[in-house]
Amino acid sequence: MNFIDTGVFEKQKVRIKNLLPEIGIEKARAEIIAGLTSKNKSISSKYFYDEIGSDLFEAITELPEYYPTRTEKSILESIAPELMNRNSSFEIIELGSGDCSKISILIEAVQKVNLENVNYIPIDISKSAIENSTAELLEKFPDMKINGYVADFIHQLNQIPHSEKPRLICFLGSTIGNFSKSDSTKILRNLAKGLLKGDSLLVGFDLVKPKSVLHAAYNDSAGVTEQFNKNILNVVNSIIDTDFNTDDFNHHSFFNHEKSRIEMNLVANKNCSVNSPFIKSPIYFENGESIHTENSHKYYLNGIEELIANSGLVVKNSYTDPKKWFALVEFANKS
Ligand code: AVJ
Repeated sequence: MNFIDTGVFEKQKVRIKNLLPEIGIEKARAEIIAGLTSKNKSISSKYFYDEIGSDLFEAITELPEYYPTRTEKSILESIAPELMNRNSSFEIIELGSGDCSKISILIEAVQKVNLENVNYIPIDISKSAIENSTAELLEKFPDMKINGYVADFIHQLNQIPHSEKPRLICFLGSTIGNFSKSDSTKILRNLAKGLLKGDSLLVGFDLVKPKSVLHAAYNDSAGVTEQFNKNILNVVNSIIDTDFNTDDFNHHSFFNHEKSRIEMNLVANKNCSVNSPFIKSPIYFENGESIHTENSHKYYLNGIEELIANSGLVVKNSYTDPKKWFALVEFANKS
């Protein structure tokens, strides 16, 4: 994530626009400080994804215990031929595109003659992720047009121009699971507004499964999730010039059954404090005190109708893997 850098990066058929500076670093600072100075301390999970964090997340997706990415990809492989050949010219918008490996699976299924009529619009908060992945994609699919945005897709989606082409909006990886119930309802309602007749929204939902499987996925034996979690403190240090020492905190993540979500925290392993030039007094942590860093909701397939109630969306198709561990649900606008 780079809040200072601005500008457009143009190369062949790739255009990358950085919209983050419009949000401004002050907003990020204010948000982080508010989270760290409230009674129940927290840091928004969007701050995981600096360059190191994005790499760590990619490493997570390859861990034996982290089933979501591989399961979602297997579903994408099976539906790609049908999904990618409904129209000969279309636009794919991906919210939180990351390393673009999922979209590769879909684009692989597009007939060669149609590739130059496909526009791919990745949106990600990580500048490095967008730059690296678009370069890789262009090598694989030199005929495809890529219009990437470094942006906060929750607040800046309306800035992405509409083309005439039918749209497939992809919101994969169960990223929706990071948001509260009310925020995810708002996001879905907002996405519905951008859907015209013939457009689709494809959303990835991680499903409820045995607790031991969920627990292992967020407490891997190689400790990559722990590193990923702790790295958020380095990101915070870079944004508000704090002096967090990652050794002072332990990784703690568990499945909250009642709320149907993994909750990830950093727990202070001693009394400590941090300073920042942007705050008047130090922030104190008591031994055992938590900073909440992420919720990752796990869904029941039959709860999805409830989630989209009054959103203006209808379910067009719903796909899962044989174990029913992950679902890809295709929505359309109701009207
Ligand atoms: C990318 C947000 C879907 O919640 O599983 C992975 C992030 N956090 N391990 C998830 C994550 C800990 C991931 N999402």
